[in-house]
Amino acid sequence: MGIAFQQSPHVFVTQRDFDWGQDQAAIIALVGRYFSDFNGNGFYPHRDEVVLREQLLAVPSLHYLQRYIAGAEARGLAITGLGLAGLAEAERNALLYAISLSLGYPTSTDQRTQRVAWDIRARPGSAQKSSFVTFSERVGSADMHTDSSFYPMPEEQFLLYVVTAAACGGGASLLIGVDDIYAELQRTEAGRAAFTLLSDTALPFRVPSVYAASDDQVEIEMAPVFERRGDTLTMRWRHDSLIKGLAARPAIDTPDVGAALALLNEVIEQRAPRFCQQLPDDTLLWVDNRRALHGRADYSDPARHLIRIRISDMPNAERVGPSGISAD
Ligand SMILES: [Fe+2]
Repeated sequence: MGIAFQQSPHVFVTQRDFDWGQDQAAIIALVGRYFSDFNGNGFYPHRDEVVLREQLLAVPSLHYLQRYIAGAEARGLAITGLGLAGLAEAERNALLYAISLSLGYPTSTDQRTQRVAWDIRARPGSAQKSSFVTFSERVGSADMHTDSSFYPMPEEQFLLYVVTAAACGGGASLLIGVDDIYAELQRTEAGRAAFTLLSDTALPFRVPSVYAASDDQVEIEMAPVFERRGDTLTMRWRHDSLIKGLAARPAIDTPDVGAALALLNEVIEQRAPRFCQQLPDDTLLWVDNRRALHGRADYSDPARHLIRIRISDMPNAERVGPSGISAD
C-alpha cells in the first residue's frame, strides 16, 4: 500500500490502494460454502478453518492485504476506505471473518454463542457506568489495556472495523506501543526497578466477576505484566483486573508491587506517547495485542458502532483455556 501517515511510532494510517474487483463476491461465496448459516452474522471458529484459510489466501486481494498487514512491522495499522460500507451485514461480516482468518485464527468472543464477530456499541440504557456493562457495551471511555489479559492465551492480534463513527466527534481510538512504555520506564531508576519487578513476578489478573462462572468463585490468571519472547517485549495489562486480583491474593500485594503498578499505570495513562484519532466509517484497524495497549477516548453518541474480531496465531483446536470474552 502507498505512503502511510505515521502519527505515532509504529502506528500507521493508510488508504486502501487495491481494487477488490470480483474478489469480494468470490470470498463471500467461499465462506458461504463452509457456513450453512452465519450464526447471527457473527460466525464461529470453523472446524475446517485451516483449510478454509488456505483457500482464502489464494484470493489475490486477500493475499495482498494479509501480506501488507503482516509485513508492515506495525503495532497498529488503520486502513481507511476498506470498501465494505455499502454491503449488507451478512456479506460485510463474511468479508471481515475472511480477513481475520487470512491473518490467523479468529476466536470466539461469546462463550454461549461462539460468535467471533462482536458488535461494539452501546446497549440501550447503558449511559450510566455499571459494573455489569463492559467497555464494549456502553458509551464513554475505556482505560488502556490488552485484550484477554486474564486468560491463559491472550490472542496475538485483533481487528476493529468502524461501521459508524461517533457523530459527537469522540470515541477516538488510542494505542500505545509497548516499546514506548519500556523506553519511558527506562528514564528513571524507579521506572527501571518497576520494569524488572513486573517482568520477574507473576501477578494475579482477576477475571471480572460478571464473566466468572459464579460470583462466589474468584478466578485468577497468574502472569507477569512484561514478557520477553525472543527479541519481542510483550505485555498483558488491565489495571482494574490486577488491583482486584491483588485484593484476592494479599500475600502478593507487597508495597513494592503496589508502587510498581502505580508508576506503570501513570506512565500508561499520562506519559507514554500515544496514537489518538477518531477513525472514519469503513476503516479497518489492525492491532498487535501483545506489543500495543489500546483504549478509547470518551464519547456520547449511542449510534457509534464498531465490530471486533480477536485473532490467535494458533488454530483454535490447539488453544487452551477460554478464548476470550466479550469484555474489554
Ligand atoms: Fe479491548
